[in-house]
Amino acid sequence: MSCNSKKRIMSGMRPTGKLHLGHYFGVLTNWRKLQSEYECFFSIADWHALTTKYNCTETLAQDVTDVALDWLGCGIDPEISTVYLQSLVPQTAELHLYLSMVTPQRWVERDPTLKDAAKMMKTGEENFGELPYGLMGYPVLMTADILSFNAELVPVGKDQVAHLEISRDIVRRFNNIYGSNFNEPQEKLTEIPLLKGLDGQKMGKSFENDIKIADTPEITEKKIMKAITDRSRIKRDDPGHPEQCEVAWDYWQIFGSESDKSEVEQLCRAGGIGCADCKRKLAARVNEKLAPIRAKREQYAKSPDIVRQIIHEGSKKAQAAAQVVLDEIKSAVRMYK
Ligand code: TRP
Ligand code: SF4
Repeated sequence: MSCNSKKRIMSGMRPTGKLHLGHYFGVLTNWRKLQSEYECFFSIADWHALTTKYNCTETLAQDVTDVALDWLGCGIDPEISTVYLQSLVPQTAELHLYLSMVTPQRWVERDPTLKDAAKMMKTGEENFGELPYGLMGYPVLMTADILSFNAELVPVGKDQVAHLEISRDIVRRFNNIYGSNFNEPQEKLTEIPLLKGLDGQKMGKSFENDIKIADTPEITEKKIMKAITDRSRIKRDDPGHPEQCEVAWDYWQIFGSESDKSEVEQLCRAGGIGCADCKRKLAARVNEKLAPIRAKREQYAKSPDIVRQIIHEGSKKAQAAAQVVLDEIKSAVRMYK
């Protein structure tokens, strides 16, 4: 039993490279807030990365480090939350095995996310060849992650909801079969609107439209200068329309102070500021806001031993918590003791 009366939260991210501002505003600011209210377990889900990237693992270890650095820089606090690496908690793999026994094949086959991944594999976008058994179990492994801590809430984006529906079904079925009472995990959707990419599309690293948390101020400025603005503005003193400025004006909403926003709006509408100058100012604000995060990240990046220690200690804490649940699971299944 946990001596902590706070509700438990579990969430994770696959290590696929350095994180961008979409992750920061969409996920990490939310996690950071939740840390004080809930008992949080945050997993770097390297097994989930392997479900599609099993044959390109050259960067996996570095990707794990980068995710850890981004989290630490953004204020995920290993003193408060359990920050761990999925593959360092073997209890989750064992739990996954028990869950795989009670999960009907039909349930994983109906996962729409799996259908997309399978299509990408076939077309060679993500990988070549056959749909792996491990990838079929993606939602079962997520369920094992969550059930490792018997977590009640799972802060995720909309794209993960289909997985969580399957998770609830699996836990409910396990409870029905074995007469147990594990929590059916509920999603806790992020309310923060997603930050668009610099081309106005969804921000994503594969589209080259993102700003990385770890980008230098110079690169950040260069990227922002390329963002599209109000297309009807040709000359510098043409009156502009912030509401038609697909990216820069959106970013001002997030990075500007109230006085920044009213000043930019007024200057823009009056044709008193050129888009290049406006974006240069915006880049300065973005860099100001990210400066403390980047500084903190950089500090950890200079001490790889400390980061390694944080990951290993977090994983030890996660192991202990997961072992408690695993013992309960095995008892429920009536395994030989
Ligand atoms: N599948 C999630 C994603 O791609 C990552 C993840 C792994 C996760 N395990 C989890 C999320 C458990 C929530 C709970 O974003
Ligand atoms: Fe957008 Fe600024 Fe140009 Fe106005 S001046 S259109 S807000 S970039």
